[in-house]
Amino acid sequence: MLTVKNLYKSYQVGKNRFDVLCGVDLAVRKGEFVAVMGPSGSGKTTLLNCISCYTPADSGSILLDGVELARLKEDELAEVRNRKLGFVFQDFLLLDGLSVRENILLPAILSGNINSTAEARADQLCDVFGISAIRDKYPAEISGGEKQRTAVARALINHPLLVLADEPTGNLDSKSARAVIGTFEQARQALGATIFMVTHDSYAASHCDRVVILQDGRVRRTLEKGGMERGAFQDALLDVIREMGKE
Ligand SMILES: Nc1ncnc2c1ncn2[C@@H]1O[C@H](COP(=O)(O)OP(=O)(O)OP(=O)(O)O)[C@@H](O)[C@H]1O
Ligand SMILES: [Mg+2]
Repeated sequence: MLTVKNLYKSYQVGKNRFDVLCGVDLAVRKGEFVAVMGPSGSGKTTLLNCISCYTPADSGSILLDGVELARLKEDELAEVRNRKLGFVFQDFLLLDGLSVRENILLPAILSGNINSTAEARADQLCDVFGISAIRDKYPAEISGGEKQRTAVARALINHPLLVLADEPTGNLDSKSARAVIGTFEQARQALGATIFMVTHDSYAASHCDRVVILQDGRVRRTLEKGGMERGAFQDALLDVIREMGKE
């Protein structure tokens, strides 16, 4: 599904070069829910931006469904962004002038995919996420949790291969954060979605199949949940993060 190999990315600011990603290797299989954690500035968003085709990497490779992103031209990258990827942003970015249903349909409209199949898909997503009753309301008229579910439904409208989320629970209280994670789990179970999420939140990460920890531009640890209970997995994550902090 997604394979990142030996990825390097640095930023040049004036005379200074900042090496942010220094040989990142990771893979996400179809249907997996994977989290990326790591200290602030460790390159999580940069990694996500490279996978999103927003920022070109310096070297290394990103294969999405067997396609090498670095080989694609600008219009082909736009196509990947529109059709193969779904995005969930930290503040959800719903458009105020569009109804819930129209917000969900937006990526289909933007990619020229708007037809009765897309509309049926939007209705199915409203059903899965329990927002059918509010689908004609506007963002100002719905609750925070309903906004989150709308944002996740929107990310799924084009049947993306991969949903990318940067700190989707970042600004939320713990109840809303739980709701977002619940929505991702539902997306995976009911729709077979594959989700790659950057998070600081060990609670959110503890719902994932695998947690990749970035530090100093590399994957320093990978933890598999395996058959572990969620709480035990969260404890294991916290132990590893504490240990890494001491080094
Ligand atoms: N466009 C840019 N130009 C120059 N430096 C940048 C740019 N974007 C990010 N950086 C630097 O790269 C490093 C990694 O940034 P990045 O946003 O990927 O970190 P992060 O792990 O997402 O951090 P956080 O947890 O705070 O969101 C930081 O030191 C940041 O200052
Ligand atoms: Mg970030």
